Amino acid sequence: MEKVEIFNSYLSYKDGVLHIEGVSIEDLAKEYGTPLYIYSASYVRDRIREYRSAFKDALICYAVKANFNPEVIRVAGEEGAGADIVSGGELICALRGGIDPSKIVYAGVGKTEKELELAVEKEILMFNVESSDELYVLNEIAGRLGRKARVAIRVNPDVDPKTHPYISTGMKKSKFGIDFETAKEEYRVARELPNLEVAGIHCHIGSQILDVSPYREAVSKVAVLWKELTDEGYEIGYIDIGGGLGIRYRPEDREPSPSELAEAVLPALEGVSAKLILEPGRSMVGNAGILVTQVQFLKDKEIKHFVIVDAGMNDLVRPSIYDAYHHIVPVKKRDGEHIIADVVGPICETGDFLAKDRRIEWVERGDYLAVLSAGAYGFSMASHYNVRPRPAEVLVEKGSARLIREREDYDYILNIR
Ligand code: LLP
Repeated sequence: MEKVEIFNSYLSYKDGVLHIEGVSIEDLAKEYGTPLYIYSASYVRDRIREYRSAFKDALICYAVKANFNPEVIRVAGEEGAGADIVSGGELICALRGGIDPSKIVYAGVGKTEKELELAVEKEILMFNVESSDELYVLNEIAGRLGRKARVAIRVNPDVDPKTHPYISTGMKKSKFGIDFETAKEEYRVARELPNLEVAGIHCHIGSQILDVSPYREAVSKVAVLWKELTDEGYEIGYIDIGGGLGIRYRPEDREPSPSELAEAVLPALEGVSAKLILEPGRSMVGNAGILVTQVQFLKDKEIKHFVIVDAGMNDLVRPSIYDAYHHIVPVKKRDGEHIIADVVGPICETGDFLAKDRRIEWVERGDYLAVLSAGAYGFSMASHYNVRPRPAEVLVEKGSARLIREREDYDYILNIR
């Protein structure tokens, strides 16, 4: 029996059928069709509670980029979370999910004037500024709107998070943040600009980080900067250490808990009297969700078996672009033999696969498969490639399921009015 509970304790087999929070995934697939994203709300609640108890007074700003469905955001908000956003669209999602603007932080290297205006109007908690230009533009916009914008400088601590290069963000060569050496100059600029209020220091070193030691290194550097700035008379009320905690994708992975993260970073913040902000995304929702797909065809070529399913790289792009591993289990057990196969989608690219040379249980046409750990960067990175409607999304909590986003149709994709 596959140990699915190690990914999410709300995921288990009952009489050979996979269930989430007591609801049959087979029934959901039949009712809503496939491909289908299904999320467990209780899992999200538990994760926030873990973060909140490990970090006591910190503000946990859920990183909306991981999963922007407003109903998922609402669950996070109900547990006291704020939001970390990276675009005007994510701001709208956070507000629709009921997050108070006073709990929203906004990072991103390329914020447009329109996006900045919206966020200034909404009076969000803090802009995590990533360049000198952005400081001046934000100051001008805030002045024009008769407001003051609170800013943190996103500093680049130049540590190696030891993760995939595409999702390492805190190294010198990356486009993110401002180098430590020049950060103080930017703080001086910000202090002189009349419509800005210097409020914090921000850093984010990367994503899917399984070893917490790079955090300790980054946060120690931030703590030194906080002390130096405080000595120079700045009032830095917030230290935002970003997100990035990794999750289990393979059964053998060991995922660090929020309390391990706390143990690594809190000692480095001794004597620092600023409110801590965290921006977890993946670790809040990644293992809350699965992608359910149906086997369309089986094909045996001379050197390989192919299991062709109805979910493609447009639905879940992580295997294609990061070579990411997602565990795949049957929705209904057959207890037959295993095969080694590539699980592939219908898209016209060789890079369209969910798994390569994977040992999976014997399947037949029409069977459902569950792709695990798909709650983060699944739907949020989905596209319409090959004019494929994006999947429906269902949220399950304590035995009941509700559709939180309908499957798209062709008129929607073509924007025909
Ligand atoms: N804060 C900032 C400023 C970020 O850039 C990110 C992620 C987060 C927080 C949340 O990080 P998390 O806790 O989710 O690791 N598409 C990639 C991940 C890209 C992450 C981008 N930034 C993937 O599928 O692995």
